[in-house]
Parts: sequence; C-alpha cells; structure tokens
Amino acid sequence: MKKLLLCLLVLLLCACSKNVYKELGYSKKEIKVIEGFKLENQRFFNEHNEFLSSLLNNENIIEDNLELYIEYHDLIKEKDVVALVNSKVLREDNYERVKDLTNIEGYKEENLEKYLSNYKRNDSLLVKYVNEDNMDGYYLAFKLSKDKYFVERNLDLYLKYYDQKDNIRDLIEYINSKVYLPPYEDEELADVDKYGYQVLVNKYYKLPSDYEPDDLVKVESNYGVGYLRQQAYEAYKKMQDDAYEQGISMYITSPYRSYNTQYVLYNRYLNEDPVEVVDTYSARPGNSEHQLGLAVDILTPGYNFGTFYSAPAAQWLEENAHKYGFIFRYPAEKIDITGYKYEPWHYRYVGDIATSVYESGITYDEYFEKYIKDN
Ligand code: DAL
Ligand code: ZN
Repeated sequence: MKKLLLCLLVLLLCACSKNVYKELGYSKKEIKVIEGFKLENQRFFNEHNEFLSSLLNNENIIEDNLELYIEYHDLIKEKDVVALVNSKVLREDNYERVKDLTNIEGYKEENLEKYLSNYKRNDSLLVKYVNEDNMDGYYLAFKLSKDKYFVERNLDLYLKYYDQKDNIRDLIEYINSKVYLPPYEDEELADVDKYGYQVLVNKYYKLPSDYEPDDLVKVESNYGVGYLRQQAYEAYKKMQDDAYEQGISMYITSPYRSYNTQYVLYNRYLNEDPVEVVDTYSARPGNSEHQLGLAVDILTPGYNFGTFYSAPAAQWLEENAHKYGFIFRYPAEKIDITGYKYEPWHYRYVGDIATSVYESGITYDEYFEKYIKDN
C-alpha cells in the first residue's frame, strides 16, 4: 500500500514542472521531496491534490515522515496527521491497530494517543472507558473480558454482581446463563423461527403454548415410542444403530411432548411434591425442550431412571452423543446453572454445533448466550 501511495504521490510531479511548484510556493527542499517520488498514476494526484498541497505547505513536515503522513491521511484528519506522526504516536507498525480503532463506534480522534498507550486487547471496551476517562473501570472490564465466555453486552451486569462471586468464571457463568434472574418471570421467547435447531428453551426462554413442530415423524418401535422432528430422528437412529454395533442397547422412552402433555405431567407432579421440588425435575409447560420435538429421554434394557446413570449406555452417550448432534443437557455439576437435577437420560438435538458445545464444557444455557443469541 505504501508503495502504491508513493508512486501515486509522485504523479503529482509529472503533472507539473519544477517551476509550477515554485510558483505554488514550495520551497526548494519541498520540491526536492516531491521530485524524489516516481509517480506513475495521475489519478492519485487528482484525488489528493488538496491534501498533498496542504501537507507540503505544512511547516512542520519532516521529510523522512512523508510516507507515513500519506499512509495515514485516510484515517486521520490532515491537521493532526503531521503532529501525530512526528510525535511517533502513528508509526509504521501500528497502522492496522489505528485503522481498527477508527472503525469502532464511539472512536474519538482526540483520544487516539490514550487508546494506543493503554491498548490491551478489547478495542471497544477501551474506547468506551478512555472516552469516560475511567481507566480503573477499563482495567476491571479488561480482566473480565479475558474470560473465554465474556459477552460484552453483559458487562454492566458483570460489574453489578462482581462482589457476589468468588471468581470471574463463576460470575460470568452466572450472568450468561441468566440465573441471577428469578426463573419464569419476564421470560423471553424461545424463537424457533430465528434459531432453528439451536433454539434455547429453559426457565428463561419459553415456547408459545401453540408451538408445535410441523415435521414430526413417528418413532419406529425398534427405536422407542412417540414422535420427533425428522432431522433429530434420523440422527438418533444412526446413534442408536452405531451404539448397538458397539454392544450398547438403548431406546427412546419420551421424545416430543405437546404443551398440553407437559401441562398435565407437571400438574400431576404437583400432587406429589411441593412446587420448588417439582421445578428441579420437571419443566413447566412451555419451558420443556420436549415441546421442541428435539429432546429425547433414553433408557437401556434392565435400567430405569433411577439407575440409568450406572448403565454403560449412559457413559457411551456422554462420550458420543455429540457426534450425532445431541448434547447432554443436565449434568450433575451444573444443577445451579440449568436449574434441573442430573438427568443422564435427557439428550437434546442441536445439530452441527453439538461437538463445539461438548468441547466447550459449558451448559447450553451459557453457550447460547455466548455464541448463538443475536449472532
Ligand atoms: N425433565 C426435563 C427438565 C423436562 O421436563 O423437560
Ligand atoms: Zn427429558
């Protein structure tokens, strides 16, 4: 780019003779500089004539910096470019960084030197805090932003709850998965049209009572009972077949459940247990992944829901389900995040991203906030 600019600049010279420069008021030294370039392109001169003329008339220009003035002039106001280059704020090795900064919302040229001297990693945080002249705030935000699952739109919440958690990972998980909020209040829509197989359904994202998938297919008896969405069913069949070849038997006991079925089920549980207990093992109507037609409860012959955790199939699923697009949704160590007890039998189809979710080791509640929502 620099070369091009140099070539371009000098075009200016071909267009004019020495005398013309003299008449324009350039000093001998400046004319020498101008003539030092080999211009090959008239266009640049035409387009940047004003900038170049003004630059060459600037009494502060330093001949050795001419290339940099030209290089930076698209990013920086002409009146500042000479001063910033001369003071080495703008250098050959930070062009890309400056360019990135100028593209950030809120960027202010008068703060450029501060952005650069405080530069760490997260440009938009830097711009926000430097503009507010709050560098302590920036260092804390920067510390938070180093967590792999930091979500910038949640920054104010991280700061609000900062003192309540012992470490940054716990804090960010707490906010990202929304558990700082009371469940079932002010729920967001679980938007299947927007997120497809990746839609999140939990105690904070609810399906409309009339949501029913339009591609449900019947589960054949050798795979279990009920209905599933077509693509999830195809994936499930392959998983069960492959498991079988490896000596693991399994079948579906509960796939799609309508809003009404979940309603009846949840209310039946309420006859047996207090609501705060029921809420740890059953979703309320509208809050169940089963209504998506993308969740399956799986068992293996000889085991029930109480013993399934010890079945070889449970371990096989934990290690392999992601290869088929399914994720293990309610792990024992994430009860505080999912809001549900350990359910080794419950798997949720999310498609291609399953391996990425599996490898992340975070709950889908948090994964969705980081990678899926509004992306
Ligand atoms: N048991 C799970 C949480 C459900 O009811 O969807
Ligand atoms: Zn389930």
